[in-house]
Amino acid sequence: MTKQRLYSGMQPSADSLQIGNYIGALLQWRGMQEEYDAFFSVVDLHAITVAQDPEHLREKTRRTAAQYIAAGIEPSRSTLYVQSHVRAHAELAWILSTITGFGEAGRMTQFKDKSQKQGADATSVGLFTYPILMAADILLYQTDVVPVGDDQKQHVELTRDLAERFNSRFGDTFVVPKPVIQAETARIYDLQDPTSKMSKSAESHAGVLWLLDEPSVTAKKIMRAVTDSEGSVRYDRSEKPGVSNLLTIYSALSGRPIAEIEDEYAGRGYGDFKKGLRDVVVSEFEPVRARALELLDDPAELDRLLAVNADRAAEIADATLATVYERVGLLRRG
Ligand code: AMP
Ligand code: TRP
Repeated sequence: MTKQRLYSGMQPSADSLQIGNYIGALLQWRGMQEEYDAFFSVVDLHAITVAQDPEHLREKTRRTAAQYIAAGIEPSRSTLYVQSHVRAHAELAWILSTITGFGEAGRMTQFKDKSQKQGADATSVGLFTYPILMAADILLYQTDVVPVGDDQKQHVELTRDLAERFNSRFGDTFVVPKPVIQAETARIYDLQDPTSKMSKSAESHAGVLWLLDEPSVTAKKIMRAVTDSEGSVRYDRSEKPGVSNLLTIYSALSGRPIAEIEDEYAGRGYGDFKKGLRDVVVSEFEPVRARALELLDDPAELDRLLAVNADRAAEIADATLATVYERVGLLRRG
């Protein structure tokens, strides 16, 4: 039986990924790459919907790709590439934009939130059409499943609507993809503000564990994580968000159930618990960080790997795009 196809991606929005990206995305992707024919992109065209420094964007793109590989996405097994290396993404996005309703795009909550914060004049049209580009990413590869966080679910629903609309208007062309929504247990919160999701774009970095931080920095951030005055290591998301978050991280990285970790630290203080967590995180990150830095030390080799993968992606994407051009009635070049 042929494998189902999987597609996901992340923006190159920081020099380092944070532990939420690692647990919530990379670990899941790594686990799925055997069962699925998986495609993972670094979505640089999405990143430029907000202003970027050109040199820094290039650097962040390489760094993000290196961290995918270092975390165990294998470029010989999965197709791991940079979105802008495959031209079909921008081309299909244009075609899909012509069958997307203005009101339909306007209902995307991520756009509404971001544009409300920035104001209409500071918001680019690219930010408005961002979900259409995401639909193009997914549909070009005839994707069956799309693992994402729940903030992206609405974009995958739009993708499904566009695929169905195109298919009914122009004939069966696209596979209609299904979202796979990240489990609540894979959601990581800021160590200093454990009711907000940990984010690459957090204003303060004190509560963010970066994959590429020095181990001593990671250790310090864990030892200083916000807890509570009760003093007992137990999971209670609403009453004890800080400790619960640390337990989630501990469990996700050690593979041990939360109850077992609670038992281990029963009657011991937060200091002991944090030291235990520190050891788990530092030993998980250490080889990943070392491998990422090694890859970044040889950018020519990394670029070569990405080029090979982009060729593999382009072959599939170009075939889909050719069918789309044909179906919508664009005159074939003689
Ligand atoms: P972002 O950094 O927001 O572009 O997210 C990229 C990917 O990492 C998405 O699949 C998110 O669901 C996942 N992710 C980001 N932050 C977290 C977090 N705090 N906890 C769990 N997953 C996260
Ligand atoms: N918009 C997604 C995010 O911010 C990233 C993304 C772009 C994506 N294209 C995709 C995710 C296609 C899944 C499939 O997280």
